[in-house]
Amino acid sequence: MKRFLLLPLLALPSVALAQDAKPADLSKLKAEQLCGQLCSGCHGADLSGGQGGSLIDGEWKHGSSDADLMRSIKEGNPQLGMTPFGTLLDDGQLRMMVIFIREKEKQAKEKGMSFPKPKPGEVTKTQQENYKIEMVVENGLKDPWALAFLPDGRKLVTEKSGRLRLIEADGSLNPEPVKDTPQVVEHGQGGLMEVAVHPDYEKNGWIYLGFADGAKEGKQVKTITAYVRGKIKDGQWVEQQQIFKAEPQYYTDAGVHFGTRLVFDGKGFIYFIVGERGGRMEVQDVANPKGKIYRLRDDGTVPDDNPKFDKAPVPGVWTYGHRNPQGLDIDPRDGSIYNTEHGPRGGDELNWVLPGHNYGWPVITYGMDYDGSPISDKTAQEGMDQPVTYWQPSIATCGLAFYRGDKFPKWKNDLLVGALAQQEIRRLRLVDHKVTEQEVVLKGIGRVRDIKSAKDGNIYVILNGPDRVIRLVPAE
Ligand code: HEC
Repeated sequence: MKRFLLLPLLALPSVALAQDAKPADLSKLKAEQLCGQLCSGCHGADLSGGQGGSLIDGEWKHGSSDADLMRSIKEGNPQLGMTPFGTLLDDGQLRMMVIFIREKEKQAKEKGMSFPKPKPGEVTKTQQENYKIEMVVENGLKDPWALAFLPDGRKLVTEKSGRLRLIEADGSLNPEPVKDTPQVVEHGQGGLMEVAVHPDYEKNGWIYLGFADGAKEGKQVKTITAYVRGKIKDGQWVEQQQIFKAEPQYYTDAGVHFGTRLVFDGKGFIYFIVGERGGRMEVQDVANPKGKIYRLRDDGTVPDDNPKFDKAPVPGVWTYGHRNPQGLDIDPRDGSIYNTEHGPRGGDELNWVLPGHNYGWPVITYGMDYDGSPISDKTAQEGMDQPVTYWQPSIATCGLAFYRGDKFPKWKNDLLVGALAQQEIRRLRLVDHKVTEQEVVLKGIGRVRDIKSAKDGNIYVILNGPDRVIRLVPAE
């Protein structure tokens, strides 16, 4: 009883402080500062609790969803000493606070948790399957980005600097890169990125590359993601054909968000990504090449049955409103296409990619800007698709693969999601386009850049820092 009377009294000074601060000042504050000024007084500097409870122990009295937290902060509980912040903070700032709390919550959780951190030769146990990791290439690769299999047992690996490398059938890395591959500009996050082998390679020999195309003139660099196909004969790139190239006015000096992945649907079509290149609102314009997923015939021509838009799109646009997608794969069960994309700070997304749809960036997002300022106060809007799931805080999604093999039967058709910043592979089970299971199956041995489900049933992974290719094989 005494406690109940005391709390509101103790709360008074902080409430007064919060209301003294001018809204004009608050609007300039980033998430950390806002929290320090408005929340830490009661919830503790690290949010682990004071006169207000802990916000990082994973226990929520008034609901645990983002929407619940948002409501708790907005409406408060003045009787129990929680200030209602709805009049002081706008929806964008309230969302920033939710994202910030989620970041702190995750950090606290991970301090006390152990995730599967595999060591070569040792068995790693997960919920459904146990695996070992084997080293495929330990040394000799610099910033490897993507991996593709040739039917004769060789593998192709891109290096960001522009080199296309071959891993021979015996597992050795060929010291000579493929000669005469296209001119690539290494620019910020971009360079040579994707490599993909045509499903009818044995008949046609086509290999596809996705890369930062452009020119360096002195200090001026302007690039955008482009795609070509070609063949490798006697260690040399030959017969190159252009698949996708943006108009020159869209080349930009921004070194970020190249996106980039390419997949085949096995019916003669390719799907591929061009990232938003820092263009933000440009991605909402279908006539602008940035922030789009495309569908073309495998020779680069535009299919007749691509979606129609209000205005003429860049030829091949399939979906728009994407930020920086670096994961793309097709569900072997029903042909549904999924992508993962980097959000800003918070709000990495898994999307079900449907023709003509708008995925909302930057009008709607579950993230905030890197400096802790809001990007949008909206997470949903009519005419814009919601993600299948999103990650808060960001894991930095990169590489996405449905597991198609038989060596891990309990993972069959599960989705493997790679993450750079969190150095993770997550396994997601999708039922009717919804996530019914999610588990970290590997963590902490490098930034996960690419994941591929191989014909032999093993799972190949490209790691950055250290730069390696490993594979997951069954424990038995
Ligand atoms: C004056 C003290 C005070 C301040 C300032 C304050 N809180 Fe609280 N907060 C509390 C108390 C006390 C509770 C518990 C209320 C209850 O039990 O209903 C609470 C509850 C909450 C809850 C709900 C927790 C749950 O378990 O569901 C959230 C979320 C929250 N606060 C966030 C914030 C944020 C974000 C800020 C800063 C913008 C903030 N609080 C500032 C005292 C405060």
